[in-house]
Amino acid sequence: MAIPIDLRRDAAHSLQEQIYTQIRGLILNGRLATCARLPSSREMARDLGVSRNTVLHAYDRLKNEGYLDSQDNAGIFVSNAIPDQCLDYVADRRALRSFDREPPRRPDLRLEVTAPANVHLDRARARIDFWYGRFDRRNFPLNTWRRLINENLSRAGSNLSEYGAPAGCHELRKAVSSHLGTTRGMNAPADRIIITAGAQDGLNLVCRLLVQQGQKVAVENPCYGSAALLLKSYGAELCPVPVDHLGLRVENLAATHASLVYVTPSHQFPTGVTMPLERRHRLLDWAEKANSFVIEDDYDSDFRYDSPPLTALAGIDQYDRVIYVGSFSKSIGPGVRVGYLVLPEVLVQPALALKSLSSYGQPWLDQIVIADFIESGGYRNHLRKLRHRYHESRDALVAGLRKFFGPDADFSGDGCGMHILWRLPNGIKAADLVVAASKVDVGLYSFESVGAYEVGDSNLRKNSLVLGYSTLSPVEVTEGIGRVAAAVKSLAA
Ligand SMILES: Cc1ncc(COP(=O)(O)O)c(C=O)c1O
Repeated sequence: MAIPIDLRRDAAHSLQEQIYTQIRGLILNGRLATCARLPSSREMARDLGVSRNTVLHAYDRLKNEGYLDSQDNAGIFVSNAIPDQCLDYVADRRALRSFDREPPRRPDLRLEVTAPANVHLDRARARIDFWYGRFDRRNFPLNTWRRLINENLSRAGSNLSEYGAPAGCHELRKAVSSHLGTTRGMNAPADRIIITAGAQDGLNLVCRLLVQQGQKVAVENPCYGSAALLLKSYGAELCPVPVDHLGLRVENLAATHASLVYVTPSHQFPTGVTMPLERRHRLLDWAEKANSFVIEDDYDSDFRYDSPPLTALAGIDQYDRVIYVGSFSKSIGPGVRVGYLVLPEVLVQPALALKSLSSYGQPWLDQIVIADFIESGGYRNHLRKLRHRYHESRDALVAGLRKFFGPDADFSGDGCGMHILWRLPNGIKAADLVVAASKVDVGLYSFESVGAYEVGDSNLRKNSLVLGYSTLSPVEVTEGIGRVAAAVKSLAA
């Protein structure tokens, strides 16, 4: 019987030690059963290309420890009574693992985990790239950041050498509280706010808190894929609720029997529509009646162009049912990984306990820098500048679509945010146009490529594109849409 032993001559351990460890591993592993016969020391030495003495010493050690038996001249066998203490004596797990060629059995995975489609590190970009919701690195407030980091390092005290509050640093929670008061009409006391690693981390905390295997959770159909996949990873049964030109159709909620709903009411992802006040109130009434919480993902509504800032759903919630998820990913950059939750009172303590269990809170320096940025008024100016730039690019996009595709060019979501949804001219397929545009160095993105989650086969998926404009100047937008128009013409021909 050949035994799978792999000797490394350059290893730190002697050959004898390696033979001993690997045979012991195979026995403890069950790969060498009790009473199994081992090759004679002569055979083993020949197979392994080592001296017989090396094998004999390894065998002797295994016999002395009770792993092997030799029965006079009958041969050498795995002992039929491996002492219990030997089973505890798995000193070198690495030896066990490296010779267990079968992949280890997975523990009972109850989750079907899928990666979101919008993780796009190092993606090759077209010269004119309409990727949605992207933060342009030229807009990052680098000098201010450098200064605030230095200032805060020099007065860090014990903030870097001690744990901070799991909810996040008080200065940032206070700053977020007042920012939400002025820009979203929310009364969000600092003690209801938990700082997270972006919106996704906040959503994760909420899921851990509220979602159980098989629980019905209503989502917009279509919706943000990273939220849908996260909910599914916790075992949620997603109940897709259609979206029309006013957002989620609230009247369809009752039939779902859901006890949680995830929405993007200010700028529905991906259609871009805004839910009006009347429907927002009906959503809250449903939540109260159904004893449900509403997760409001307010990812990009710092940028509203044609009207004053919109009061968040959480700002009109008289039932304390809304879990507000905010993020600095769209306003400072996703690389800073800072976001926050504003929680209904009843969820604050359990969420804090979970946050504590999962990370003990977020890095202090990142938080204090953002807090200072907000408190100094720098953030307000930064947002004003960004809003101005995006507004111009948005105008160029709308004008370009109307110029090249006529006054009836069909798009939604241009009132706010960093992308619109464009329904393509008749007969043009999204997939074909993406390919045709890439040939003229324009990056276009279909529903799927931005990670939108949709149940059923809507025309949106086949016939629409998500056009982001936040990294393009008005000139680039106009040039890009001109090239897209030429590509559409060639496809139509
Ligand atoms: C709908 C939606 N929610 C939230 C986010 C922000 O996620 P995070 O703060 O985790 O970067 C995004 C980013 O693209 C988004 O599209």
